[in-house]
Amino acid sequence: MIIGIPKEIMNGEARVAATPETVKKFISDGISVLVEAGAGIKSHYYDEQYAEAGAELISDPAELFQKSDLILKVKEPLYNKNTGKHEVEMMHRGQYLITFIHPASPGNHDMVRQLAEAGVISLTLDGIPRVSRAQSMDALTSMSTCAGYKGMIMAADDLSFFMPQMFTPVGMFKPANVLVIGAGVAGLQALATAKRLGAVTHAMDIRPAANEQAKSLGAKIVDPGAPPEIAIGEGGYANKLPEEWLAKERNVLREIIKEMDIIFLSALIPGKVAPILVTEEMVREMKNGSVIVDVSIDQGGNCAITPPGTKEVIHGVTICGIKNIPGLIPTSSTWMFAQNVYNLVNYLVQEGRVVLDTNDDITRSILVTRDGEVVHQGAREAMLIP
Ligand code: NAI
Repeated sequence: MIIGIPKEIMNGEARVAATPETVKKFISDGISVLVEAGAGIKSHYYDEQYAEAGAELISDPAELFQKSDLILKVKEPLYNKNTGKHEVEMMHRGQYLITFIHPASPGNHDMVRQLAEAGVISLTLDGIPRVSRAQSMDALTSMSTCAGYKGMIMAADDLSFFMPQMFTPVGMFKPANVLVIGAGVAGLQALATAKRLGAVTHAMDIRPAANEQAKSLGAKIVDPGAPPEIAIGEGGYANKLPEEWLAKERNVLREIIKEMDIIFLSALIPGKVAPILVTEEMVREMKNGSVIVDVSIDQGGNCAITPPGTKEVIHGVTICGIKNIPGLIPTSSTWMFAQNVYNLVNYLVQEGRVVLDTNDDITRSILVTRDGEVVHQGAREAMLIP
């Protein structure tokens, strides 16, 4: 079996799907690896290291796609300006693809259709269920860990004052007040990072279990008011709150955010649009110089006026809606991603070939296209395929 690792072509994408370390593991498992020349440079994994690990370096992406049985990528297939071809056009019948596809997202429907028509067997990393058996393959969780850490560092960087309490010969500085809304994977990592930087941390989540974890990281808990029977759904996951409870939550927030220096927004119900928890009116009431980092921007954002993909000062508050935060910490995010993908490939490959068992819940929930058809349930519903 031959695995191909192309260079990512999305503008500014610094990550890559394999490290020299995972290449070495594939090789020792009896799998050949082709790496596009320069694929890892931006995340500081170099061609010589891949070659030393046993990979063959290839300059032409079309050749790499053509020779590979399985393509591992970070981002969904995109149009490649250098070759003048969409990455799907470089793929062939029976070839496997593992990447983040986000197949239900409307912007990806055409590409998913093309993958099916091309006969590609595609598997999406965003479908990995959050069960303990799949933890080592869960690249989405890894990327949220990176976004929580780096997002909080970006918030600290945008403050015009010290984050920790400081005693100096000329006086004392009070520590910054940080509130994290949505204490899931990204939120908990943001809380831990803010704590390490010396802030006083506060957390708000609608799941009591998340608040407990936040508390154990030293955060003060702000109760959003929604009763657990409304907030928690099947399997302990959060429910989308009805508008009346969201309004109550905003009322609780309205008072507390006036006291905060940093608001980190990471509240989300998987597969849904992010709830609006901070309105423009609330931003107006915040202190001048305070900072909002809204990492839920890919799902629309938790703040009504977050600028998508960029950072702006609005009503005296720096609001950051920068996307792809894991790509801003590419050595670590690539390392985590590559380990997750290696573990998934290892799970799927038996005796040198990919074996897809659709009775297995992990396989079933990541499979997007197969035998010329879109088989992913969420994508079929979103694409109105009966
Ligand atoms: P998660 O599902 O682990 O956490 C979301 C948390 O929000 C849950 O604990 C849930 O209970 C809570 N929540 C839901 N509704 C709420 C409400 N009304 N009020 C308070 N809390 C509420 O999700 P994860 O993995 O931590 O991701 C969080 C966000 O970060 C997502 O929007 C994700 O797309 C984003 N993200 C962004 C990246 C970027 O580069 N911008 C990279 C990685 C993740």
